[in-house]
Amino acid sequence: MHEEAATSLQSQQIDRPTSARAPDGKTGKTLFIQTYGCQMNVYDSERMADVLRPLGYSPVDKPDNANLVVLNTCHIREKATEKVYSEIGRLKAHKDLMAQNGAKMTIAIAGCVAQAEGEEIMRRAPAVDLVVGPQAYHKLPELIARAARASGERLETSFEADEKFDALPTLRAPDGPSAFLSVQEGCDKFCTFCVVPYTRGAEYSRPVDPIILEARGLAQQGVREITLLGQNVNAYHGQGPTLSGSETWSLAQLVRHLAKIGGIERIRYTTSHPCDMSDDLIEAHGEVKELMPYLHLPVQSGSNKILKAMNRKHSVESYLDTIAKVRQARPDIALASDFIVGFPGETEQDFEDTMELVRAVGYAGAYSFKYSKRPGTPASEMYGQVASEVADDRLQRLQALILEQQRAFNAAKIGETFDVLFTGKGRNEGQILGRSPWLQSVHVAGPEHLIGQIQSVRIIGTMPNSLTGELVTAS
Ligand code: SAH
Ligand code: SF4
Ligand code: F3S
Repeated sequence: MHEEAATSLQSQQIDRPTSARAPDGKTGKTLFIQTYGCQMNVYDSERMADVLRPLGYSPVDKPDNANLVVLNTCHIREKATEKVYSEIGRLKAHKDLMAQNGAKMTIAIAGCVAQAEGEEIMRRAPAVDLVVGPQAYHKLPELIARAARASGERLETSFEADEKFDALPTLRAPDGPSAFLSVQEGCDKFCTFCVVPYTRGAEYSRPVDPIILEARGLAQQGVREITLLGQNVNAYHGQGPTLSGSETWSLAQLVRHLAKIGGIERIRYTTSHPCDMSDDLIEAHGEVKELMPYLHLPVQSGSNKILKAMNRKHSVESYLDTIAKVRQARPDIALASDFIVGFPGETEQDFEDTMELVRAVGYAGAYSFKYSKRPGTPASEMYGQVASEVADDRLQRLQALILEQQRAFNAAKIGETFDVLFTGKGRNEGQILGRSPWLQSVHVAGPEHLIGQIQSVRIIGTMPNSLTGELVTAS
């Protein structure tokens, strides 16, 4: 999609199949999950695979002959729903072919489009067997059984985040040495452009105890890096451990505790809201060595007038102030952000103010989006919608500036030596791929047995979106 950023360090909006491990591979039932949207959906897809594993579903990487296909959808972009319908159309062709051969494909629609438009989907697309909202994944096995009986309720989109987390199994099969861990869901901020408060519901923080349990389990299975997830993760305020009197913990307290788990060498968190960047979290950046020097702190606009219309509840000045404090605590921190251009009422001067803010901060990367109307949100009815060509032009200028800053940030690493966590095979034979503390991809010539380990690497070059380096000590 042309309106999406091409300048991110790591693509945020994703579109990929989720792989999960088979229990024994013998039961014969196959599962294909297609994931769209944010990291929250990536995490949810993994957890769906987890709840389905005991039922004998093993993953496949194509939908063609899968017994169960799950589309885990995202509602944040324009035409999200139409894309889901056209994907359902493609799947229906496979479903019909399978039926001719006496086999059955169950089609499930999950995620944020399911939450927002579940009933409409059930009405318009009879090929769909069931719809499941983000808070109801733990009910998937039951829903599948019901759909198999071809009767009763096909729709499950009720909001009970705590019930969902209680019901999900704690044992997970991680996909590699870096894993997501969901600690917070939903959002009460109601930015005027955003659908998340409607699709994910009210803000909810998981209690500390099950998070620790999940983190320990991941560490035991070789996970070295954990990314704590939440739509507003730094607003985290979960019930503390039963042993410590159960008072509420902040994200900083949670991070400090997770850092003590043997095997967990790196901790990250995403996404944060500028208003929730508390002093204790900023301090943790200076003190906890496991907390990686990377902060994604979306600002959206550099104009106070637009920020107000967006209902962001922070100003340009308060944002810059927070950034200054973070940099004081951790001078080498990599900063990332999200921007929206062409928000209703945005003038050329407002846009220039955004460019000015970008110049003032100096980002390691950022995601920038052209404003798109989301039905039902206050901004979609605001006066002063910006012409598409104007927004396109602004987006291009902003992305060029961000790309320039990203390249400068990457180039500054040439000649430095630092730890890299190897996460998988590289693009070329004999290459392995890793991640720097600042979330840059690093390509290195090295043996595959280093995957899962942290090794010292000297940076020798840069590519458009990544670094190249050489191992300092081959083990
Ligand atoms: N909770 C996070 C962001 C969630 S949505 C936060 O507050 O930062 C991810 C990003 O998508 C947002 O930061 C915003 O930049 C973009 N976005 C959301 N709704 C949008 C819309 N209607 N048009 C364009 N971009 C949008
Ligand atoms: Fe959406 Fe704003 Fe909540 Fe982020 S803080 S999820 S942009 S409403
Ligand atoms: Fe999309 Fe839902 Fe995430 S709308 S960005 S998948 S919270």
